Amino acid sequence: MRIITFVTQKGGAGKTTLAINCAIAAELKKHRVLILDLDPQASSEGWYQDREADSPKLVKIDSWSLPDAIAKANSAGFDLVIIDTPGRDEPSTTAAIRCADFCIIPCRPTPVDLRAVPPTVATINRLSKSAVFVLTQTPPRGERLREAEAGLSMLGIVSPVRIVTRAAYQDALGAGLGVMEYEPEGKAATEIRQLWNWIEKKMEKIAYDSEKTHIA
Ligand SMILES: Nc1ncnc2c1ncn2[C@@H]1O[C@H](COP(=O)(O)OP(=O)(O)OP(=O)(O)O)[C@@H](O)[C@H]1O
Ligand SMILES: [Mg+2]
Repeated sequence: MRIITFVTQKGGAGKTTLAINCAIAAELKKHRVLILDLDPQASSEGWYQDREADSPKLVKIDSWSLPDAIAKANSAGFDLVIIDTPGRDEPSTTAAIRCADFCIIPCRPTPVDLRAVPPTVATINRLSKSAVFVLTQTPPRGERLREAEAGLSMLGIVSPVRIVTRAAYQDALGAGLGVMEYEPEGKAATEIRQLWNWIEKKMEKIAYDSEKTHIA
C-alpha cells in the first residue's frame, strides 16, 4: 500500500483539488483508494458528502488517529491512501508527512506562494521523504510560469504537467466529482490524467532507485 500526502502550509494552493482528482485518476486505473481528510475545514469531506458513488472511500480523521487509520486501510485491502492536509504548519501536517511514501506540494506561480514553500520543504527533508512540486492555478503559459518553475526547481523536482486555472476544477468538485468524471474529454481531465501518469512513474523510479541504493 502506498501513501501520498498532499501538503503545503500555504492556504488555497490546491491540495484538496489535487488530492481528490488524483484519487479519481487512480481509481479509474483500478486502484483501491482511501482518502484521509486531516483538515478541520473538511473540504474533502464536504465533497464526499455531495458524491453519489461509493468510491473512493473517504474518512475524516484527527492526526492522533492517523496510524490506526493507516493500519485499518492496509488490512482492508486499499492499495493507495491519499492524505489531504490543512493549509497550516501544525503537528498533523508533520504527522502526515512522516507516514507518507511520497509528498506532493502544490504551488501557485506567485511570489507570495513561492516564499511560503521552504518551511514545508524543510520538514519533508528533515523526515527524509521524497516529494515533487506541482504548479497549480496557473495561466496557460507565460513568463510568470517559467520564473516559478525555475524558482521551484532549485528546491526540488517540478512536475512537467501544470494545473491551469479552469472552471472545470471548481464545478467538478462542487458536483462531488473529479474532472475526469465531470468532463472526461476536457482539458482539465487531460491534465489530471497526464499528471497522475507522471506521478506514478516518478514514484516507481524513486522506489526502484532507493531499492538499488539499499542493495548497494
Ligand atoms: N486549477 C484550478 N482552477 C480553478 N480553480 C481552482 C484550481 N485549483 C484550485 N482551485 C480553487 O481554488 C480554491 C482553493 O483550492 P483548494 O481548496 O484545492 O486548496 P487547498 O490548498 O486545499 O486550500 P486549504 O489550504 O484551504 O485547504 C478552491 O476554491 C478551488 O476550487
Ligand atoms: Mg484543502
